[in-house]
Amino acid sequence: MLSELTLTLKQSLRRQMTLDVSPPLAAGPFNRTLFRKSIPILAARFPGTKLGSVRKSVPMRSAVIDLPRIRSVIPDPADPSGDRLVLLNVSSEVDLPSETVEFLKTESNGLVPYTLELDYDYWTADDIIQAILPEALRERSPVGFAITGHIAHVNLKDEYLPYKHQIGQIFLDKNPQIRTVVNKLDTIDNQFRFFKMELLAGDPEYVAEHHEADCRFTFDFTQVYWNSRLHTEHERLVQIFNPEDVVADVFAGVGPFAVPAAKKGCAVLANDLNPQSAKYLAVNVENNRVADVVRVSCEDGRAFIQAAVNRVLAEPFPAYSGPRKSKTQENKERRKQRALGSQTTVDTNVLLPPRNKISHFVMNLPDSAITFLDAFRGILSHRDRQEIEKIYTTMPMIHCHCFTREIEPELARADILQRVEEKIGHPVPDDFSLYLVRSVAPNKEMYCISFRLPARVAYE
Ligand SMILES: C[S@@+](CC[C@H](N)C(=O)[O-])C[C@H]1O[C@@H](n2cnc3c(N)ncnc32)[C@H](O)[C@@H]1O
Repeated sequence: MLSELTLTLKQSLRRQMTLDVSPPLAAGPFNRTLFRKSIPILAARFPGTKLGSVRKSVPMRSAVIDLPRIRSVIPDPADPSGDRLVLLNVSSEVDLPSETVEFLKTESNGLVPYTLELDYDYWTADDIIQAILPEALRERSPVGFAITGHIAHVNLKDEYLPYKHQIGQIFLDKNPQIRTVVNKLDTIDNQFRFFKMELLAGDPEYVAEHHEADCRFTFDFTQVYWNSRLHTEHERLVQIFNPEDVVADVFAGVGPFAVPAAKKGCAVLANDLNPQSAKYLAVNVENNRVADVVRVSCEDGRAFIQAAVNRVLAEPFPAYSGPRKSKTQENKERRKQRALGSQTTVDTNVLLPPRNKISHFVMNLPDSAITFLDAFRGILSHRDRQEIEKIYTTMPMIHCHCFTREIEPELARADILQRVEEKIGHPVPDDFSLYLVRSVAPNKEMYCISFRLPARVAYE
């Protein structure tokens, strides 16, 4: 009875045995050739006709090798046109469960030794990083990176800095879409919000081309702000805009709100004080073929807010003329029109008035956007009140991003409202909305407060 129990236990232990396919530890200078491992295993020979039933058979299920990126059935190197080799996850027959041994005896053409050769290409970036780090650092190794265009950026903790170039090289080797790996340094340019960074591996080429919301963005990642984590926030606000709206983006960056909004049909005043942002913003407007509806400026946000209303009144945008067409669509229609004769052209612009009223202000500078809100006081007060009231039948919406240290939603709400009201000098209308954009740090949240500018503030 006891020996039976010991036997079953031994068998089940054997069944759990797996091959050690971890990479060899390779501390010291980085050398790809150190990552080689030859693992002796057994392979069972089967005629090709039997492979279907072998795969389905219960005794073989636990015995066939099951490793990522390794094929379990291969041609026999000694006889490529003959039997197939089914690779087993044991190096010795005694490690096979008895029912598998029985099955192999009756169904296979015998067992042969086989050597599984693993090298640098086999292991994942994480496997290799683990292998180059000292044991104490392995548990929380830095596996994550974000990608902007061809640039991967990591944020390495101090203890990993001695290995930073190796880590960079491994990321580069393992991700064909990456050409440059940088480490974001803790210092952030305080005014223009871009990160200082150091090159870890690859080309020192920092002008990236990044795609978001069907738009192509080009920018120098060392000189402007870009955060791919904000893409859902960009999408969320653009979705709120109507295609006929005029949007004023006070802190536009390189255009992740402005360009998709314009593609949707909106007319946009897009502003950024960083000359490099304004430069790439203009490039992106051009590249995405929305130059007819986007006006780029490079001014302080406060001056921009105060001038925006008058600018659009003095020089209205062309009327909304229906959904924007792709280049292919446009060419197709032009060809069709040419075939039909030019008299069939319908100018949709004549049906709608030019756009002279701003419907939305976007203010994504969470660190300090609230402090710019006093600039809205009196933005409609410079003109004939009756004339302006006819145009501004509804007040513009303000979407103002901000940080708060209050984690509790109720406290965050109270904190943000108090700071906004202090700046506009008026209660925020009851129908405002507050949206949690993301948690930036354990005790720091990013919100967007959206509210209609109170008329009393606009005419103040
Ligand atoms: C957090 S980024 C947001 C950029 C973009 N809207 C986005 O979502 O990626 C803030 C932007 O405000 C610009 N900025 C900073 N201070 C400014 C100011 N006083 N006036 C106008 N733009 C400013 C920065 O250059 C930066 O591009």
